[in-house]
Amino acid sequence: MAGPDEERVALLETTAEAVRSCTLCRLHSGRIHAVPGEGPLDANVFLIGEAPGREEDATGAPFVGSAGKILDKALAAARILRSSVFITNVVKCRPPANRGPRSDEIESCRPYLVTQIAAVRPKVVVTLGSTALRTLLGTGIELKDARGKTLGFGDVPVLPTYHPAAVLYNRRLEPTLRNDLRKAAKLGAAKRARIRSGPPRKGKPTQATASSGAAVVGPGDRILLLRRADEDIWCLPKGTVEPGESLEETAVREVREETGLRVRLLQPLHKVRYSFFWPPGGVNYDKTVAYFLAEPIGGRLEPEPGFDEARWVTREEAMRLLHWKNDKEVVARAFEAIRSPRR
Ligand code: URA
Repeated sequence: MAGPDEERVALLETTAEAVRSCTLCRLHSGRIHAVPGEGPLDANVFLIGEAPGREEDATGAPFVGSAGKILDKALAAARILRSSVFITNVVKCRPPANRGPRSDEIESCRPYLVTQIAAVRPKVVVTLGSTALRTLLGTGIELKDARGKTLGFGDVPVLPTYHPAAVLYNRRLEPTLRNDLRKAAKLGAAKRARIRSGPPRKGKPTQATASSGAAVVGPGDRILLLRRADEDIWCLPKGTVEPGESLEETAVREVREETGLRVRLLQPLHKVRYSFFWPPGGVNYDKTVAYFLAEPIGGRLEPEPGFDEARWVTREEAMRLLHWKNDKEVVARAFEAIRSPRR
């Protein structure tokens, strides 16, 4: 008898076969290849686009044209290995002249998508653009209202974000697409690309990037550390500043997302600045991270997927566990601040 994994593999394969021979709507008549989608059975992150374009139709693979290049860059920036995610579309055949898919075409194709999600059982679904969002969660939903929220399809979290093709027309959307994929990586604890940053390289463009985080001090003057599951590294909660956010807002949001705790910021602690070359983007990053001293005011300690442990530690333990020298400096300043009477 087939085990549950074999059954899921079989379900994915029979769905792909059914897609390749599908004649349920008019789109089949113009296709070179149907594009069922691709990715491993154990993908934690499941991406849904709109429809195959010319290159996808020619090759049978999703997101291999110009929108695919934008998607690849965004995945690399979020440190997600493309080969670790499942990528598919709302409709599996190319609409003529790249028009948007019609509602009867979407209806005919939707069962394939739902079956793929059921077979893969991802930890998070990312809808790219409003067609994917509305196909999954209903036609009344506007991308502008839903983006930035975590919605649900059954018990699977859904992150709505922009379609990579929208980024082609409006480059200002690119940081948001990347940030949303970073969030997906955290939610899905997707396999991270083991890409090594290196020392800044001469002649490469430099891009400024800002993050913000906190040294959270709890009962008994202990500081909260997180261990990243993928790299086995202890660190402080922190993350990228989203467009329109203040450093303070980012620190509070990142602590809540990564640890489950709501915190109040007590004072700024330290600003760390460093530069490195990032091979996937081909750029030098000039990164600033602002750290605040904070105390918990609610929530429940529950590290986000992507972290396998959260621990309240003494100064000595923090110095022993922390990986980055910069983090140790932040913790040293946090303990100085705790000891000073002006808190
Ligand atoms: N746009 C999509 O929505 N899907 C693809 O596969 C390629 C471009």
